[in-house]
Amino acid sequence: MSKLWKGRTSAKTSVLADEFNSSIKIDKRMYKEDIEGSMAHVAMLSHCNIITKVEAKKITDGLVKILKDIESGKLKIDDKAEDIHMFVEEVLTKRIGDVGKKLHTARSRNDQVALDVRLNLRKEITLINFTLDKLINLIIDIADKNRNTIMSGFTHLQKAQPITFAHYILAYGMMFKRDMERLYDLYKRVNVSPIGACALAGTTYKTDRVYEAKLLEMDSICENSIDAVSDRDFIVEFASDLSIIAIHLSRLAEETILFTSAEFNYIELSDAVTTGSSIMPQKKNSDMAELVRGKTGRVYGNLLNILTLLKGLPLAYNKDMQEDKELIFDSVDTVKNSLNIS
Ligand code: ARG
Repeated sequence: MSKLWKGRTSAKTSVLADEFNSSIKIDKRMYKEDIEGSMAHVAMLSHCNIITKVEAKKITDGLVKILKDIESGKLKIDDKAEDIHMFVEEVLTKRIGDVGKKLHTARSRNDQVALDVRLNLRKEITLINFTLDKLINLIIDIADKNRNTIMSGFTHLQKAQPITFAHYILAYGMMFKRDMERLYDLYKRVNVSPIGACALAGTTYKTDRVYEAKLLEMDSICENSIDAVSDRDFIVEFASDLSIIAIHLSRLAEETILFTSAEFNYIELSDAVTTGSSIMPQKKNSDMAELVRGKTGRVYGNLLNILTLLKGLPLAYNKDMQEDKELIFDSVDTVKNSLNIS
């Protein structure tokens, strides 16, 4: 496959290098955001008379078709491609000819990837907040039914004072409420458009970054183009917010494990989320809770990994940053799964 970034090189990279360089297995999950971003970009290019209306229509129709074909399974994302940005552009150019190349006018993959990640994560933030909201409502229901259920409150895991189960479980409600607030606050910093920063120093084309951001329903634009392509603070923040959610889930999981043990015998879990033992029939194991507790480690690990990845990176874009997606997506998936099972 010919390389779009060829430039001064022969672009004859080794198979080993191609495989090592490729991120498509991870970033293909952003295909929709990549295409949405490209549609807004074409609209902006045409709005600013950088490309003609006819060209814009051809490119947009091509992009719509690619999106449809990926979603219907007609177009398979090629795992040998370098990344999702190159894949979409290559398919587009193959299908509609050289005019497809105009899509990349006044942008670079550096601002494109930053945009795609922001668009993708803003969706994930909304989904996670929705799940947190459901969990809080469940907790409120449980509390409501247990206004008069007396249990022991503990300090140092020693019986301290009598409390109600409602009082106890609502403490977790408060944690998840703060988690939601943190994500709402983060959303503001994620929903800012880097597109138009290009490689790092903008472009001499008379583009309209604000117009493009509006099309993408983003609140504002990154004001410094160097920052736009180097900033991954929002990923660190998200990984950190997810780690805090994981702490809360893990504490809840730990207490679930304790409270279902024969020694405590405070609660009983439904068979749907427990496992048994054929040789020890008295057992009802809280495997799901144990897994939630166990998976917390990888969420913390991802945060530390991202922090380490960014430490000491010179401005602006460096390929190291390609690694950030695998880590944040893993935290997103892990916390989503843990929230759903909790
Ligand atoms: N796949 C790359 C990433 O995820 C996209 C940006 C590539 N930019 C570049 N200048 N090579 O970071």
